[in-house]
Amino acid sequence: MNDVVVRALRDDEFRAAHALFRGALHHVPPTDEQWERLRPVYQPGRVFGAFDEQLIGTARSTDAELVVPGGARIPLAAVTGVGVRVDRTRRGVLTALMRRQLTDLVERGVPAAMLYATEGEIYGRFGYGIATRARSCTVHRRQARLRPEAPTGGPVELLDLDEAERRLPDVYARIPLRPGMMTRSERWWAGLFARLRQSDEPVTTLVHHGADGPDGFAIYQVSRQSGQLGTLRVVDLHTADATAFAGLWRFLLGVDLVETIVAYQRSLEEPLELLFTDPRACETTEVGDEAWLRLVDVEAALRSRTWHGEPLVLEVVDPVLEHNADRYQVGPAGVTRTDQPADARLAVDTLAMMFTGGWRPSTLVDAGRITVRDFEVTPRLDELARTRSTPWCGTFF
Ligand SMILES: CC(C)(COP(=O)(O)OP(=O)(O)OC[C@H]1O[C@@H](n2cnc3c(N)ncnc32)[C@H](O)[C@@H]1OP(=O)(O)O)[C@@H](O)C(=O)NCCC(=O)NCCS
Repeated sequence: MNDVVVRALRDDEFRAAHALFRGALHHVPPTDEQWERLRPVYQPGRVFGAFDEQLIGTARSTDAELVVPGGARIPLAAVTGVGVRVDRTRRGVLTALMRRQLTDLVERGVPAAMLYATEGEIYGRFGYGIATRARSCTVHRRQARLRPEAPTGGPVELLDLDEAERRLPDVYARIPLRPGMMTRSERWWAGLFARLRQSDEPVTTLVHHGADGPDGFAIYQVSRQSGQLGTLRVVDLHTADATAFAGLWRFLLGVDLVETIVAYQRSLEEPLELLFTDPRACETTEVGDEAWLRLVDVEAALRSRTWHGEPLVLEVVDPVLEHNADRYQVGPAGVTRTDQPADARLAVDTLAMMFTGGWRPSTLVDAGRITVRDFEVTPRLDELARTRSTPWCGTFF
C-alpha cells in the first residue's frame, strides 16, 4: 500500500466523508437539505478518514450502551459509515481505518464495538463476530387471522413525523432492553428520521398505549402501485410486552390495500406466527446475521456479564489488539487473568459470538472455532455461557 494516512476528520470534512460512504454503497451524495439533517449523526472526534492525496476511505462510530447477559449495560461504539473509494479498494485502506478506530476506542476506554456488515467476509479478521441473528418474514395478510386468545391490545395513536421524532425516544426508553439490545442516542434518532424524511414513500408512525402509558411503537411504509394491493414494510417495532406487540400487529393487519406485510431482522423469539390461526400466514424468508460485536477490552467485557456453573480458563487469541491475548479464568464469582493451563482456546471474534449467548459454545466447538482441552469441557462451557434469551439487537445503524 502507498502511504495512507488515517486521521480524525474535522467537522467541515464530515460531508465529504458521508458522500464517499454513500458512493461506496452506490448511492448519490446528499443534497444540502439532506445533509443539514444528517450532520448531527456525525460525532466529532469519532469520524476517521484515510488519505493518500485525497480522502479515499472513512469509518465512524457513535456512543451507545449495550445490554449484556445478566442485564448490565456497557459502553458501546456503534460503528458505521464504513467505505473505501472504488478505485482504492483491496490495498489495505479498510485495514488501516479499522486498526486506527480500534486503537482510538482502547484509548477512550470503550470496551465493545458493534456494527452491521454489508458482507459476511469483511469484519471477522478485525475481531468482530456474529453476536446476534435475526429473521425476516412476510405475513400474507388475507391468510393471517388472529386466534381468539391473541391479546386485544390497547388504543393505538397515529403520530405525524414531527411528533414521532419528539416522542418516540421516550417510548423506546420505556421498553425493557434485553441482552443484545442497545440504547439509542439522539444521534441515532436523528439518523433514522433523516432517512425517513428522504424517502419517497409515506411514513406512518403508531404508538400503542397500555395501562401505564405508551408501551410500544411501530413505524411503517407502504409501497403500492395504482390499481394493485401493496406491501407494508415494518421499519421499526418495539414493545414493552406481549399485549402491545399483539395490539400493534392487530393494527397493521387492518391496514387496507395491503397484500403482504414484510418485517426484516426481527427477533428469533418473537411469537408472531403463534398469534395466527394458520401459523403459515407468517413465512420466514431469511435467518441471518444481524449485529457483529468486537470485544475491545476482553477483560472488562467478560466481567460485565453473568456466568454459570464452574469456572473455566479461556485462552483468547487477538492478533489485532494484543493486550487482549491472554488466559482468563471465567466463572460466576468473577473473571481474572491467569497463568493456569487453558480449558478452551478461541479467537476474539468467536468469543464475541459466545459472549452474547448468540451461539452455544458446543456449536462453536463443533465448527472447530473453539479448541477444548478434552471433551468434558464442552458441556461445562455451555453451562458457563448459558443465557435466558436469544440475543437480538433490533436497532439498525
Ligand atoms: C468493504 C470495503 C470497506 C473494504 O475496503 P478495502 O480497503 O478494500 O479492504 P482492505 O484492502 O483493507 O481488505 C482487507 C482484507 O479484507 C478482504 N476484504 C475486504 N473487503 C472484502 C469483501 N467485501 N469481501 C471479501 N473480502 C474482503 C480483502 O481481500 C483483504 O484480505 P487480505 O488481507 O487477505 O488481502 C470496501 O470494499 C467498500 O467500501 N465496499 C463497499 C461499501 C461497504 O460494503 N462498506 C461496508 C459497510 S458495513
